[in-house]
Amino acid sequence: MADNRRLITRRNRLLGADAPLFYDEPLHIVRGEGVWLYDVDGRRYLDCYNNVPHVGHCNPDVVAALTEQASTLNVHTRYLHETVLDYGERLTALLDDSLSMAIFVCTGSEANDQALRIARMHTGGQGIICSNLTYHGNTTAVDEVSPLFYGKVSPSPNVRAIPFPDSYRPLNGLHGEALADAYVENVREAIASFKAAGVGFAGMLVCPIFANEGLPNVPVEFMQKALTVVHDAGGVFIADEVQAGFGRSGRMWGHEIAGITPDIVTMGKPMGNGYPLAAVAARADLVEHFRSQVMYFNTFGGNPVACAVGNAVLDVMERDNLIERAQKTGDYVRERFAELAERHTLIGDIRGHGLWVGVELVRDRATKQPATEETGTIVNRMKERGVLLNRIGEFDNVLKIRPPLPFTIEHADLLIDNIDTVLNAL
Ligand SMILES: Cc1ncc(COP(=O)(O)O)c(C=O)c1O
Repeated sequence: MADNRRLITRRNRLLGADAPLFYDEPLHIVRGEGVWLYDVDGRRYLDCYNNVPHVGHCNPDVVAALTEQASTLNVHTRYLHETVLDYGERLTALLDDSLSMAIFVCTGSEANDQALRIARMHTGGQGIICSNLTYHGNTTAVDEVSPLFYGKVSPSPNVRAIPFPDSYRPLNGLHGEALADAYVENVREAIASFKAAGVGFAGMLVCPIFANEGLPNVPVEFMQKALTVVHDAGGVFIADEVQAGFGRSGRMWGHEIAGITPDIVTMGKPMGNGYPLAAVAARADLVEHFRSQVMYFNTFGGNPVACAVGNAVLDVMERDNLIERAQKTGDYVRERFAELAERHTLIGDIRGHGLWVGVELVRDRATKQPATEETGTIVNRMKERGVLLNRIGEFDNVLKIRPPLPFTIEHADLLIDNIDTVLNAL
């Protein structure tokens, strides 16, 4: 603890007192292995939160691939290199045939930044639709389509932030297709409002599972209809797979769950298991047009080490059948939460896909009053008990559970048993 105080003082002076830190008493982690993290005192924590170490913290196969390539060569992509091409071909083969070209970058923010550029360049318009509770990253352009931290409204006249499709607190109490239609109407209105303001329409950018919005159970028709409306208006549909992609959802891509083929897909976080690797995959005509207009070069993006790491991540995913396991283990976590819900009325809604689990906590199931304070207490007490998770959602009352994919049924039991104990003590 004394050590924590010393580090916090140094950190505040160096990074600023508002630089975000998790937990009332921050964690000082020094080592990771699989689904486990170890603090400076050697105490171990079950990691139910981190989605970047996708195939496990310090996965030995990924570390070996990284080390081997880093010991051989690491340069930027303005030289020919087979590993870069092998990985790019393997990656695009995992997508619809139409998404046949890729641009490598280092972060999800950069991927979305370039996707916006491509869409704007292709259409000649500037207007982008996003959800009102989303986060797509931190560049100047992407910040404008990330209203999560603005209180639902983007400061940019080129952005319309429409209500995310919420099934737990649905628009006008609607359900199913009627609810989807009501939300799709917001897309139409946004396009009309761009037109009225003289802003050309460029497209729509969404996370296909609305991860940052709190993982709502989106009516299946919503995304398909929204995509049609966007295309009819001449726009480009961008799926941000930075959180949803790479099998966590039980499918390789979140947009498969949404039942659509986007024009552009952006990806990052889990792709390099912690090594900075991200990409934009898109239709060939979009990429060719972009490349013809812009000399786009990214010093670190998709270098041979990044691509060797990306290949190793896919190898481990395939070898260990991690997508199917994510589905099974995630379903099991949701089932066990459903059992808990019979005893704990705080549990209002259990949602998610694969090993992306959201559990909304409410003080009253009838009024759905958010249990924001209680959720914060649970997150902190779980950490004290050696289990790491966090929270999201409009009211910060949705438990956010997205562990590394090697998470097993035994790990799930440990998570649930601890939640049970913490809920009993509340
Ligand atoms: C959906 C989504 N897109 C993009 C990003 C930005 O990614 P990065 O932090 O790698 O820039 C994030 C980060 O949390 C995200 O959740």
